[in-house]
Amino acid sequence: MGLERIQKILARAGVASRREAERMILEGRVSVNGQVVDQLGLKADPVRDHIKVDGKRILRLEPKRTVLLNKPRGYLSTVKDPLGRPTVKDLLQKVRERLYPIGRLDFDAEGLLLLTNDGELAHQLTHPKYSIPRTYWAKVEGHLEQQELLWLKKGVMLEDGEARVNSIRVFRKAEKSCWVEAVVTEGRNHLVKRIFSAVGHPVVKLKRVKFGPIRLGDLPVGHWRPLTEEEKENLRKTTDERRGKREREKEDD
Ligand code: URA
Repeated sequence: MGLERIQKILARAGVASRREAERMILEGRVSVNGQVVDQLGLKADPVRDHIKVDGKRILRLEPKRTVLLNKPRGYLSTVKDPLGRPTVKDLLQKVRERLYPIGRLDFDAEGLLLLTNDGELAHQLTHPKYSIPRTYWAKVEGHLEQQELLWLKKGVMLEDGEARVNSIRVFRKAEKSCWVEAVVTEGRNHLVKRIFSAVGHPVVKLKRVKFGPIRLGDLPVGHWRPLTEEEKENLRKTTDERRGKREREKEDD
């Protein structure tokens, strides 16, 4: 097999996403043949070298697995919490593999969360350069005017730069609030809440219903299921298309 970058080996072994693996390396948690490697860019042989994370040898042959969870409100989308709050791991008790979430959903948000041990897949679905669409249903305060919908599509300024929705529609109105369906193509922290607050309509409830080609459907809250073969194939097609698009854009630059 030849040499490969250590973060890539860790991602393929299902230890973490590539970016998280880079962080683990910089934190000095990774060793190769007994030597701590705390710099990025170093390579190792995944078959011959003894690679350890937090002192434990990584498993190389864990089968790839991706599941879909309908995360309830009041659960963290991380797998560990130093404060002991409920995490999505508590809902995956029958899953033997070590899965970690693809992107995040706020503690008070619910809906579709994909979890995987396939670091490459996680990387491709969350990296900003691939712009994977995420669809949310948000209950917001007040009613949105046409002008505000236009602002949201054109882009609003947030403290970490401009952000916009790719599409938006109001699908239910109550007296003092309404429900909107909004599609964004980034995973910045609290993005949907911040976008709506920027036009004066704070989000009071948030649910993710679609991520790339995968729909939440009627999976009950708190339940999970494996992805179907068709869904896995659709995810593969999405990441292949996005990669192809990026490569064509680079050639045009
Ligand atoms: N945007 C948010 O504000 N919160 C989420 O959990 C996801 C997107």
